[in-house]
Order: sequence, then C-alpha cells, then structure tokens
Amino acid sequence: MTDIAADAPAVDGPAAERVAAQARRRRTFAVISHPDAGKSTLTEALVLHANAITEAGAIHGKSGRRSTVSDWMDMEKARGISITSTALQFPYATAGQDCVINLLDTPGHADFSEDTYRVLTAVDCAVMLIDAAKGLEPQTLKLFQVCRHRRIPIITVINKWDRPGRDPLELIDEINERIGLRPTPLTWPVGIAGDFKGVLDRRTGNFIRFTRTAGGATAAPEEHLTPEKAHESAGIDWDRAVEESELLEADGADYDRDTFLGCESSPLLFTSAALNFGVNQLLDVLVQIAPPPSGQVSVEGTRRPPAAPFSAFVFKVQAGMDSSHRDRIAYARVCSGTFERGEVLTHATTGKPFVTKYAQSVFGRERTTLDTAWPGDVIGLANANALRPGDTLYRDIPVVYPPIPSFSPEYFSVARGKDPSKHKQFRRGIEQLEQEGVVQVLRSDRRGDQAPVLAAVGPMQFEVATHRMASELSAPIELESLPYTVARVIDPKDAEFMQRQHSTEVMTRTDGVMLALFSTKWRLEGFQRDNPDIELGSLVAAADD
Ligand code: G4P
Repeated sequence: MTDIAADAPAVDGPAAERVAAQARRRRTFAVISHPDAGKSTLTEALVLHANAITEAGAIHGKSGRRSTVSDWMDMEKARGISITSTALQFPYATAGQDCVINLLDTPGHADFSEDTYRVLTAVDCAVMLIDAAKGLEPQTLKLFQVCRHRRIPIITVINKWDRPGRDPLELIDEINERIGLRPTPLTWPVGIAGDFKGVLDRRTGNFIRFTRTAGGATAAPEEHLTPEKAHESAGIDWDRAVEESELLEADGADYDRDTFLGCESSPLLFTSAALNFGVNQLLDVLVQIAPPPSGQVSVEGTRRPPAAPFSAFVFKVQAGMDSSHRDRIAYARVCSGTFERGEVLTHATTGKPFVTKYAQSVFGRERTTLDTAWPGDVIGLANANALRPGDTLYRDIPVVYPPIPSFSPEYFSVARGKDPSKHKQFRRGIEQLEQEGVVQVLRSDRRGDQAPVLAAVGPMQFEVATHRMASELSAPIELESLPYTVARVIDPKDAEFMQRQHSTEVMTRTDGVMLALFSTKWRLEGFQRDNPDIELGSLVAAADD
C-alpha cells in the first residue's frame, strides 16, 4: 500500500479532525455470495437489527414481501433476481461505539459481475456469505478473487445453520484449502446444522442462546449464559462446541487483526438470516473490526487521507430505477472531506464545475435529499448526465482516482433499431447504455454507425439493454448475435493485418481501445502460435483470474 506522500493535501485543524472522526465511524461494506445463499435475507436482517426498519421484508421484494428498489425493473420482478445496486445507510451503536453502516448491495447474478466489481471498488470490507449446505460455490469463488485482487478484507458468514448442512470443521477446511483464506471463527455453532441453538462466543467463552420468533419477522431475543449455565442448557451440544473451539485454538485459528486486514485470514461467524440468529454478532463484529475508510490512492500513487478536502469517485451510474423518477443517478463514494449539497465541485475528467444541487441518499425505494456526507458514504447524484463510472469529483485540491477497469466481454451482438425513423433516439439510447456501463459498445467502419456491436460479460446484460431501449429510451432494438467469445486489445498498427485473418474481426470501443474478436479460445491460441510477434493485451480481469 502506498503511504501518505509528502505532497498529500494538508489535513490539520479542527475541521479536518471532525472529518477524520466521522470517517472513523464509517463501515462501508458489501455482501458477496452465490445466488440463494441468503444475501437479501441477511441484508434485511441487518437493517432490522439496527432498527432501521421494523419488520423484515421491507427492502427486498421476493415472494410477496413488500417490494422495494432492488426489484425496480419488471424483468427483475419476473425473474426474482436483483440486477441493480442500492446503498443502504443506517446508524448502529454497540459497546460505546457509535457507527454509521453503509451497506452496498451487489447484483447476485454472474452476468452482472462487472457491476458487482464496480461496487466492490467502493467498499472497505466484504462479507462473504456461504450456504452451510453448499459451501463455496462458483460465484462466491469469482467474487472472492475480486476481493483478493483488490485487497479487500473479508468477514466470512456461514448462513442457513437452521437447516441440515455440513460439518462446521469441514466447511472451515474447505475455505482454507480451496481459496487459501484462513478462517478464524469468532463464534462457533451450538447444535449441528439444522438444530441451531445458539453460538459459543469464542472471545468471551459464553453461550449466546437464540430464541425463535414467528416467521423470523422480528429480531430474535438472545441470552448470554456462562459456560456452566450453557452446559445445563445445551448439554452435549455445548460440550461439542467447546471441544471443537479448543481444536481451532490449538490449530491457531484465532482472530488476528493483521492477517485479517492483509486478506490472509477471515473472521468467521455462523448465522441463520431467516431466523435472525447471529445477526447482532455480525453487526458488532463489523463495528469492532471492519476497517473504516483510510483514504484513496490517486493515479499518481499518493493516498489522499480521509481528512483532506472533498473527493469522491463514481462507481455506478444507473437510470430508470423507478417509473416515477425516470432519471439517471450517479453513485459516488466519498473518499475524503465533507460533502455539502449545493457546493460546486470539479469534475476531474472534464475539468468543468459540477453543481451538487440534486444529491440524494437512496434507502430501498425511498429517496431523500442528502445534505451532508462523509468519507465512506455514498451519494446519489441525480441528473448527473456528465458523470461516468470511474470519474473523480473533488474540491480545492485536484485529484484523479484510477479508472475502474472494464471486463473482457464474452458475448457480442449487433444492435439495430427496429424503427428506422428513430435513428436519433437509437443513437442516444445506445450512448446512454454505454455510459452507464450496461454494455460495452464496439464499432467498425465496415459495420457502420447504424449497427454498433454490443459486448457483454453475460447475456442477461443484453436483455437489460433491449428492455431499456424499448421501454425507456423509445428506440426498440433487435439483436443479432455474433460468433465471438474472446476479445483481446491490439495495437492500432496491427489492425489491418488482424482484419485479414480468418474468423477474426477488429472493432473499436467507445473509449478508443481497439479489440480483436476471436470465435474461440483455441482460435486465439492458434493465432498467437502462428504470430508470436503480434502483441495481444488482455482487458482486465480480476474476475477471470
Ligand atoms: P439471495 O439474495 O442470496 O439470492 O438469497 P435470498 O435472501 O433471496 O434467500 C434465498 C432463499 O434462502 C430464500 O428462500 C430465503 O428465505 C432462504 N434463506 C435465506 N437465509 C436463510 C436461512 O438462514 N435459513 C433458511 N432456512 N433459509 C434461508 P425462498 O424459498 O427462495 O424464498 P422465501 O419464500 O423464503 O422468501
């Protein structure tokens, strides 16, 4: 990590100390998981426990629960998946620490992993949620790689302990062996999976006994019992938990701050999000050990400390969230300083002033005007048409944060407007989808401007693009899929040569990057063998690691 350099902005004085104190209160994190591990349920439970809502089910809208922003789109409703991200903010106090939690929601489906990646650029910590019966699943692994790549500390949560599942020691071994992350359990379950009585708090040695509430709709009452009382209450289940906890201790699996922050170990907890068991413990752990904002490293490699003048970067742009607000919101994470609505900032990409009159916070379906924000917070800037993911905003002392890398697309389709008279809307719509990062847009002289190629990491991005073009951008499109699955960055000087190759096409992305598209990985490898002098660059991809 880069240390604060000598030329970093000055951060002294009472005002700076106030900002630093607010930054220390913030915990900004996201939950990463495979679909169905219980992310939505856990999100609700966390908010419920922090008393921000009174009944579980108010944020996410599955199975007839009250619906909210996470299923803003008809498509999401029909499929019951969450495509967009929201930022939830709520206060939480425990043991004398009074914190503000920012929980950034990530889309669950693998097709939207680029979106998830963008959200992960804006967090200081991640909660890796695992289904007790399934262990590590493909999407969990992929997202874990992103976190490791970005050096985001991870708290592991083994969920659904109220259902039959695997042996806890076996799950610990799996995490250790398959991904090389050393779990350090903070709690240990009392009762096997399917018979969740409570947890052994490994830091105090006490038994936290949980009691079910009807349908898990309200926070579950819990009692803290001494080991003696625990034995009386849970008998052999308690004894087994103590024995296993001692085995873990002998194995060196106790919490260690340095290796946690260094992404080598992961504090671990057991929960049943559906029954609200273990959720309080997770909130307490977030407050006690999750890192607060520590400043962001600029393109020049200097870390701008949280107490420096205001700066933020846009990690997501999203439009049409709600039919009653058909506008575009740019979500920015505050990296340093205080945000005051109405202030004029500088948009680093264009150097132009940016007025922040329409700042909002978004909580579920509700949007409220946001007047002040601090490092770690997320601000929603409405009608911010100039902003794109990766852009920096600052005040007083200039800074530019690194762009958010785009993923290597694997699906390519030509888009054509269904109604030729709507050419203008078509062009504007495609441009908007590209700016929001819904799809990447490629062009070539050969195909012309009327037939841009949409490129995506997963095919559902195309569904979103088609839906948006028809329902919101008034330019219905049809897509013709192309037989390519791999893209590589090429030097423009090689473009002509590449274009002559069999089953390869050269296209230019809107940001000017030139790409060669290959039908298969084998064709690409064959080409590389035959043309070792041609340099082919990879588009990022932490996710492909
Ligand atoms: P996701 O966002 O990660 O995709 O998962 P979600 O919370 O939607 O949970 C997926 C299913 O798992 C839901 O059941 C949910 O109720 C259930 N679930 C989540 N956490 C727990 C838990 O701790 N214990 C148990 N037993 N179940 C859990 P569903 O049948 O798909 O929906 P629903 O009718 O229950 O809402």
